[in-house]
Amino acid sequence: MLINRIFSGNDAVYGLTEKAVNDAVQQHGADKAVGFPHTAYCLPCYYAVTGVKIKTLGELQAALSVVKSLMTREHALEDALMSGVATALCAEFIEALKYLDGAEPYQEPCYGHLPDSIIRELGVPLVTGDIPGVAVILGSAPTAQEGVDLIKSYQAQGILVTLVGGIIDQAQELGLKMGYNLRIVPLGKDVTSVIHVVSVALRAALIFGNVTPGDAASLLTYTKDRVPAFVNAFKPVDDVILAAGAGAIKLGFPVISNEDENIAEVPGALIACPNVADFNKVSLEARGIKIKITKVDIPVAFASAFEGEIIRRKDMRVEFDGSRVDCVELVQTKEMNEVEDHKITVVGPEVDSFEPGSKHSLAYVVEVAGKKMQPDFEPVIERKFHNYINCIEGVYHTGQRDMFRIRISNDAFAAGFRARHFGEVLYTQVKNEFEAVVDKCQVTVYTDPAECTRIRHEVAIPTFDKRDARLETLTDESVDVYYSCILCQAFSPSHVCVVTPERLGLCGAVSWLDAKATNELDPNGPCQIITKERPIDVNLGSYEDVDEAVKKYSQGALEHVTLYSIMQDPMTSCGCFECICGIEPFSNGVVIANREYAGMTPLGMTFSEMASMTGGGVQTPGFMGHGKHFISSKKFMKAEGGIERIVWMPKELKETVAERLNRTAKELYGIDNFTDMVGDETVATDPEVLVAFLTEHNHPALSMDPMM
Ligand code: SF4
Ligand code: NI
Ligand code: NI
Repeated sequence: MLINRIFSGNDAVYGLTEKAVNDAVQQHGADKAVGFPHTAYCLPCYYAVTGVKIKTLGELQAALSVVKSLMTREHALEDALMSGVATALCAEFIEALKYLDGAEPYQEPCYGHLPDSIIRELGVPLVTGDIPGVAVILGSAPTAQEGVDLIKSYQAQGILVTLVGGIIDQAQELGLKMGYNLRIVPLGKDVTSVIHVVSVALRAALIFGNVTPGDAASLLTYTKDRVPAFVNAFKPVDDVILAAGAGAIKLGFPVISNEDENIAEVPGALIACPNVADFNKVSLEARGIKIKITKVDIPVAFASAFEGEIIRRKDMRVEFDGSRVDCVELVQTKEMNEVEDHKITVVGPEVDSFEPGSKHSLAYVVEVAGKKMQPDFEPVIERKFHNYINCIEGVYHTGQRDMFRIRISNDAFAAGFRARHFGEVLYTQVKNEFEAVVDKCQVTVYTDPAECTRIRHEVAIPTFDKRDARLETLTDESVDVYYSCILCQAFSPSHVCVVTPERLGLCGAVSWLDAKATNELDPNGPCQIITKERPIDVNLGSYEDVDEAVKKYSQGALEHVTLYSIMQDPMTSCGCFECICGIEPFSNGVVIANREYAGMTPLGMTFSEMASMTGGGVQTPGFMGHGKHFISSKKFMKAEGGIERIVWMPKELKETVAERLNRTAKELYGIDNFTDMVGDETVATDPEVLVAFLTEHNHPALSMDPMM
């Protein structure tokens, strides 16, 4: 019965797809281009499963027979599941047709196709468990309230929720705030739009897992073992939804449904759950997802899902703005007897006495003590404050140190949120995350403007200056050890980052100090000490110690890694790099593109296309993923001549790194305003115009040796 229904759903979808594709060919011709925007993988699902890139309607038409070949009709569960995969591919074809001629078929709040850059952004939060899973909710809940409650229950756990069908209208009806930044992503109202989340899972396998396109067996193993997704399907589950669900099951994603008619359970895969209120629990259990729970004693929610929430001016109760008045956040190491654990003090008036909509000073000083605490960990802890404060529902934080801005929303204020709760949040989170080094912690929150001025100028700025001076002296030569990071192995099984003072992890989130602290906090954890006692070639940054370490931590996949070369044994990339640089042969230089840049580069490739050539933990000479901060490092491609090789960057990235990059160029080569010589998209996106620009500006790369 179940199997027959899957077959019939699959047949129905195939029929529709065949007709739609044939009609499109008739209307537009076989040579018409087809594909999704901002992806290097054409029709990603079809490409991942078969290894073939579909670029035209003619190729799409030809691919129908491949899909048909998956639709075997032996009466076995396996045939039914493969028919599920065929159904998914059909859905992708139908969705691709919506994007013909650069159309934008999805309107707010729906997203439709998701770009490659989102998958790369998901890398780190998925490995850290910050995003513990991905929920796919399909259909209409029995009542809008039950639907919204379910969505919110996942959101509160940090789970990324995608929505398909009637649930989107239900969420809108109840005014639920949605969007990728809140981890609630309405895909589309047609059932075929579910393919856009499947596409994310399959691209993750290609991007992080180094799965060869067309190796369907490895692909399915990857999604099953490493992509923590599951489906919640509301009744009525018709044959088409059932066929799509079979595809999900084949990928290893369990389907949980309140459907009670004509459905046979498949243990661990298709699970009946009559009560929608139990979906959350049953789903997490079925997918083996564990949630880190942080109980913070505040009157609003606290969850990583609120990290990206933005509070607009009209919605804010008060604002603390470090660019206008004295604001500062600071961690200070104290002696054990100077700290009273969990003491929270507010110095100055509470938020109640502030005019609604007004701007104020704010300072919070977190004093910590512990036998294993080191002043080097202060900035590591302090840098987490942005994340901690942002996770408060209805509170928004940007910036750091004495240049932060915080807004408290009207809703959060109405719920009872006050300045002292900053202390509560900081205390709880610091104790949770840094328990290995912080034995005692107390927080003082200052709202008194004179006190904020005093703390900022007399306490904090001198501390920051001292820390900056220390960072200046931290070079690869001045330290005795480097660190490995293998956090990303959850998705990229052979990838190892080697983190040095002058080369941070490619995700941009792990500096040498962070790695050092991580090692201290969890000695058997992802960051291990790498000695540097046996150099092979200092200019390349190759060491026997480093080679040994990467061999060990990559389980033998890597033999040699250099720290400073993009050509010889370059460091691998997992896939979640902030930037990627690739050689530009006409100018002897390199082009850098950042993840946010969606346009074309002079290499004739977009960021996504460059990125698809590296990643997955393999070495690809000529291409290298890296953090933004690394661009101004004296060690950037040092073996090939260093930052002088940079010939092109997107304008926005160039502006972000200009100050530091120009300082390095001045120091290393005596060049003033180096970034003026570097091209960007307003100058050129093709190599000839770029070379003309570089020639005109006398760019040093032009007279350097060719790189290959
Ligand atoms: Fe992943 Fe490397 Fe960042 Fe570690 S340092 S989280 S391995 S990208
Ligand atoms: Ni990664
Ligand atoms: Ni990474």
